[in-house]
Amino acid sequence: MRVVAVMNYKGGVGKTTLTANLGAVAASRGLRVLLLDLDPQTNLTFSFFSIDDWHHRLKDTHRTIKQWYEDDVPGRETPLAGLVVTPERVNQALDGTGGCVDLISSHLGLIDIDLELAARLGGATTLETSKRKFLDLHDCLRRALRDDFFAGYDLVLIDCAPNFGIVTKTAIVASEHILVPAKADYLSTLGLDYLGGNCADLVQQFNDFVQHKGGSSAHEPIDPGFLGVVFTMVQVYAQRLTAAQQRYVDEVQANSQVPVLKSYIRNNTTYFGDAGESGVPAMLRATRRDEVVREFDELADEVLGALALSGDRR
Ligand SMILES: Nc1ncnc2c1ncn2[C@@H]1O[C@H](COP(=O)(O)OP(=O)(O)OP(=O)(O)O)[C@@H](O)[C@H]1O
Ligand SMILES: [Mg+2]
Repeated sequence: MRVVAVMNYKGGVGKTTLTANLGAVAASRGLRVLLLDLDPQTNLTFSFFSIDDWHHRLKDTHRTIKQWYEDDVPGRETPLAGLVVTPERVNQALDGTGGCVDLISSHLGLIDIDLELAARLGGATTLETSKRKFLDLHDCLRRALRDDFFAGYDLVLIDCAPNFGIVTKTAIVASEHILVPAKADYLSTLGLDYLGGNCADLVQQFNDFVQHKGGSSAHEPIDPGFLGVVFTMVQVYAQRLTAAQQRYVDEVQANSQVPVLKSYIRNNTTYFGDAGESGVPAMLRATRRDEVVREFDELADEVLGALALSGDRR
């Protein structure tokens, strides 16, 4: 099982669209994929479930990640495996491929929990207790995903909120890899180094605490690596990015500590305009082999190749 966090604290750069469609393409190649929605906006969840279904089948039956983070140590009372649901429409579309897409749903109230988790880190009376609290909390998702139940998945994709709160940090600790969707513009590329630096600081603090025995022996050092930046919503003419966008890509390639993937995803409002309504990601509904379909296939080749996950192209 490979765990990949899809993150960027810049909002609206295509994280959720990429998570849903990359997951769907991987599943269409026969892989068993689990999507984990850690964004209180709940957009990934609503890409697979109608709002009615979310209310009646997920929220009212307490099958969302909010319940899990709410436990006094996340997951103490609520096993993560019990939150996994199988959205029907996408899995009907995957019929015959051998792959599947399961989901752990988010909740609009997760935003309050994130703030509460940050508050829980305070108040320790000794340095040892403070380190233990830090490790127990930040390591919670990684520990939960080690349950045998999750070994049945080839790939777990975590859609993070556009922030660097505690919930996002638990995703980074749980992930071996980080994928960073970004737009090729000034504001989107500006934050990439800061993102790389913040991730490095988190890893260093976590590993320092592990090494200096802040937590129980159950905590092990982490080493998540950047799969890279994938540029999304780019403008392509005659197989090339516009000169202005290429300049931003070159700039990140030359100067950023986060590598850039070869693949990119073009702007295509025909496919991505109605995100979510049909419950089936656009790449599974596409009937024509046009450019953006080819780009998602190339992205899947590049990402699954880097993760050493085989899967047969459709
Ligand atoms: N390649 C694309 N072409 C055109 N529109 C796109 C593309 N990718 C995403 N979009 C649209 O852009 C908007 C933002 O995309 P998305 O929700 O995936 O971003 P996000 O990074 O997850 O946002 P947030 O930070 O709010 O979670 C959505 O309306 C989506 O349908
Ligand atoms: Mg999103």
